[in-house]
Amino acid sequence: MKVLIDTDPGTDDALALILALNSPALEILGLTTVAGNASLALTTRNALRILEYMGHPDIPVYRGASRPLKGHFTYAYYYHGPAGLTVRLPTPKSKPSAVAARQAIVDSAKAYPGELTLIALGPLTNVARAIQDEPALPELLKEIYVMGGAVNVPGNVTPYAEFNIYDDAEAANVVFSSDAKITLVGLDVCHEPSVLRDDAEWFSGKSLGEKLVARIIRNWFKMRPDDDRYNLCDPLTVLASLRPELFTYKQASVQVETQGERLGETTAEFGSGRVRVAVDIDVAAAKDGVLAGLG
Ligand code: RIB
Ligand code: CA
Repeated sequence: MKVLIDTDPGTDDALALILALNSPALEILGLTTVAGNASLALTTRNALRILEYMGHPDIPVYRGASRPLKGHFTYAYYYHGPAGLTVRLPTPKSKPSAVAARQAIVDSAKAYPGELTLIALGPLTNVARAIQDEPALPELLKEIYVMGGAVNVPGNVTPYAEFNIYDDAEAANVVFSSDAKITLVGLDVCHEPSVLRDDAEWFSGKSLGEKLVARIIRNWFKMRPDDDRYNLCDPLTVLASLRPELFTYKQASVQVETQGERLGETTAEFGSGRVRVAVDIDVAAAKDGVLAGLG
C-alpha cells in the first residue's frame, strides 16, 4: 500500500510513524507536516528527527500549513511537551523538501492514480488545501484514513470537538464534504486501548522503535502525574489501515460544525455516505497490535 502520512508530531504521531516504518505492508512515499500539536517548525523538525533515528532519512518530508484555513492553531504543548515530543532526539542531517505538502499530495496522487492512501494524523489543513488546488484529488486518491472526530462520545477539546477537527474545522468540512473515500478513526474507538502507567510490556522493548516508545511514554507519564492513561489515537489509525478486522465500521455521511459553541463537532448520519466510521474496536487485540508493530 502506497501511503503519504500527514502528521503533526506529537508523541502519538511518533508512535504512529514508528508503527508505519516497521510495517512492510506500507510503502511510505513521504511525510507531510502540519502544525497542530506544535508549531510547523517543531512538527517538521520532529518528523525529520524521528525518520533519522529510525534509519529512514531517505523518506522525504514536505512542509505544510503553519495556520488553519481560518484563525489559528491552539497547539498542545501541555500534552505533547514543550517541543512537541517528550524526548530530545539528535539534530537531523536531512532537510525538508522544497516541495510544499499540498503540492506533494497532488503530485503523488497523480503519479499513482487510484493507488495512493493518505493517512491524516493532524488537522486536515494540508488535505483541504490539496483538494482546493486539485478538485479531482478525491477521485485520484484510493482512500483517506483520518484520525479525528468524536461521533458518539464527547470531544477532548470541548464537550463536542476532538482536537484535529477543532483545530481546523473549515478544512475538515472541505474534506468530509468531498467525494473522497474516508475511514474515520476517532475518539469513539481510541480512548479504550490506551497505555496504563504500569503497563510494563510497553517499557521493556529492546528494538530501536520500542526503546524510543518507552522513552516517549515514560517521560509523558512523568510530565502528566495526574494522568494514568496514554491514548494511542494516531497509531490506531495506522493500525486501521493494516488490520481492518480489528475495527467495526458503519457507513455514514459526516457533517462538521464550523462555528459557535459546537465548533468542530462531527455529526454522523448513518446508513449511507462516503465515510466509514469506526464505531467499535477489539480493544485488547488493537493494543497488542500496536505494541507488536513497534518492535
Ligand atoms: O485528538 C487526538 C489527536 O490530536 C491526535 O492526532 C493527537 O496527535 C493530536 O494531534
Ligand atoms: Ca496527531
